[in-house]
Amino acid sequence: MVLKLCWMDLKVPLMSLLIILLDCSSTATLKLNHPLREVIDRVNEKSGPYIGLVMAYSAEEHELQSSGIFIPNSISPWVDLSGRRFNIGSIREVNVIYVMSGQRRLNAGITVQILLDVFDIRGIVHYGTAGSANDSLSFGDVSIPKYVAFTGSWNWKKFNSEKSQLEELNFGEYDLPQKGQNLLRGLEFKTEEFYSVGEPMKQVFWLEIDPLWFSVAAQLRDFKLQQCVNVTYCLPETPKVVYGLKGSTADIFVDNAAYRKFLYKKFHVSTVDEESAAVVMTAMSSNVPCIVIRGVSDLAGGEEGKSSTSLSSLAAKNALNVAVEYIKLVGPHF
Ligand SMILES: *[C@@H]1O[C@H](CO)[C@@H](O)[C@H](O)[C@H]1NC(C)=O
Ligand SMILES: *[C@@H]1O[C@H](CO)[C@@H](O)[C@H](O)[C@H]1NC(C)=O
Repeated sequence: MVLKLCWMDLKVPLMSLLIILLDCSSTATLKLNHPLREVIDRVNEKSGPYIGLVMAYSAEEHELQSSGIFIPNSISPWVDLSGRRFNIGSIREVNVIYVMSGQRRLNAGITVQILLDVFDIRGIVHYGTAGSANDSLSFGDVSIPKYVAFTGSWNWKKFNSEKSQLEELNFGEYDLPQKGQNLLRGLEFKTEEFYSVGEPMKQVFWLEIDPLWFSVAAQLRDFKLQQCVNVTYCLPETPKVVYGLKGSTADIFVDNAAYRKFLYKKFHVSTVDEESAAVVMTAMSSNVPCIVIRGVSDLAGGEEGKSSTSLSSLAAKNALNVAVEYIKLVGPHF
């Protein structure tokens, strides 16, 4: 657990500086006169530390709410901060704070930062739906990736410029009816600046999931997932949990067969989403472990004319069930 301390300095006559140490425990970033300070201190002292459970949007939250798995705290069931509702309670007797971040990187990053700054959090479980870029992953499968990367930051290359060292997408390679040249030229994928406690800034592309938390998830490989959407419709095959693959995040909804194939070929990416890398990077910046659990709701453009919207609730449900099992496993041990 990270102990957060507030320092307040008082100038006294002449040269000495008296430093008064104020222990303001876990609410370091809330102002002293913040109206919720006492509530949050109580939440942290009574039942902390918590596991933070983060999902991005309402369909994913809905699966949790309708499952009845989350038991709200009877005294302080929630705290609203910056427009997000932090729900206090427990899952399978493990203290949990769950929050819906809103979609895409900025919302995910902001929400996780508030969660970590204000509450006593020992780790984050992030679940949701994803598109599959890997032909071996289909609807309802759940991926627990070992690596996630942000694949939405590019240098736009000039026409006729040389190929660079970094991975590139050349638009001309995808020209129809045949490959050619293209004034749009292409994109060169960039790394991200990663800042973290006690470390100099690093350029990173792949973010590795915390090894200890990742190893705990190995126990979920044979977890039984749901196969039926409703009483009349079941998937042709039983969905599976896949462990240790790669996921990518961008502020882009990928629904394009060519780009999907490119991501798989160049980066060996199996799932695409819009938040995972932001959640992981924000947690890693504060040295807090985080696990990603994403259920396949669509094939990111790889499906043949088939609409998959009706399958997203099954994908969210399967991801949630794996997340709940993970919380049960990780809960007592850390
Ligand atoms: C694609 O998914 C399968 C699991 O269904 C996995 O065995 C394979 O390694 C994945 N491909 C890549 C490049 O990760
Ligand atoms: C069951 O799910 C299928 C596929 O999503 C859908 O077409 C069908 O209308 C659903 N049936 C019921 C009874 O909800």
